[in-house]
Amino acid sequence: MARIGIVYHSMYGSTHDLATILAEGVEKAGGEAHLRRVPDPLLPDEVKQMDGVAAAIDKQQDVTEATVEELPEFDAILFGSPTRYGSNTAQLQNFWDQTGALWSEGGLVGKPAGFFTGAATIHGGHETTILSMSTFAYHHGMVIVPVGYGLAEEVGSTRTGGSPYGPTHWSPMGGDKQGIDDDEREIALKYAAHFNQVADKLAA
Ligand SMILES: Cc1cc2nc3c(=O)[nH]c(=O)nc-3n(C[C@H](O)[C@H](O)[C@H](O)COP(=O)(O)O)c2cc1C
Repeated sequence: MARIGIVYHSMYGSTHDLATILAEGVEKAGGEAHLRRVPDPLLPDEVKQMDGVAAAIDKQQDVTEATVEELPEFDAILFGSPTRYGSNTAQLQNFWDQTGALWSEGGLVGKPAGFFTGAATIHGGHETTILSMSTFAYHHGMVIVPVGYGLAEEVGSTRTGGSPYGPTHWSPMGGDKQGIDDDEREIALKYAAHFNQVADKLAA
């Protein structure tokens, strides 16, 4: 059974929701999912008290904080972040920037990696965020596992999130009231099962 780390940052909670669905997909496929939220030393206290942000912090209270030391213990890792100007958040970057020693000893070489995100607009950075996050995997020598088109027919017809690069969520500004929709969920679940299978084979 593969141990899959799902390491993410989420300010308003929707990337957390997508991470939870990925964990469900991994577990349904027989893997072991470990949700981890990256520490957020950057968020000012007044922002933490804003309505949507406070609710998201509350929702994630039971999720264990990610540590760099734990990363090599996973057989494979999924990384998630909201889109910020077409790339990942400073919080995830801050976490990654602490992996220098791990990088120099090749601690993640050969482990499968995948990426997921959310963006407030359809054309505002779903693909660019995943592609820019993926440079982390290249530099660490990880094996990038994309969604592609063959795994889930929804990738070819979704009107919301979901991409061949990685699972995504469309989270309109002003309150993401719709939550993760059916296509996004199906893509995430099918991808998680596939990711688990790849991790299982490579870990054997
Ligand atoms: C500083 C900032 C920059 C953002 N940049 C983008 C962007 O480039 N494109 C976009 O569609 N949404 C952008 N957004 C919206 C977030 O990506 C969206 O709210 C996010 O997916 C919510 O994820 P979360 O619920 O996990 O925090 C931005 C939000 C903030 C606060």
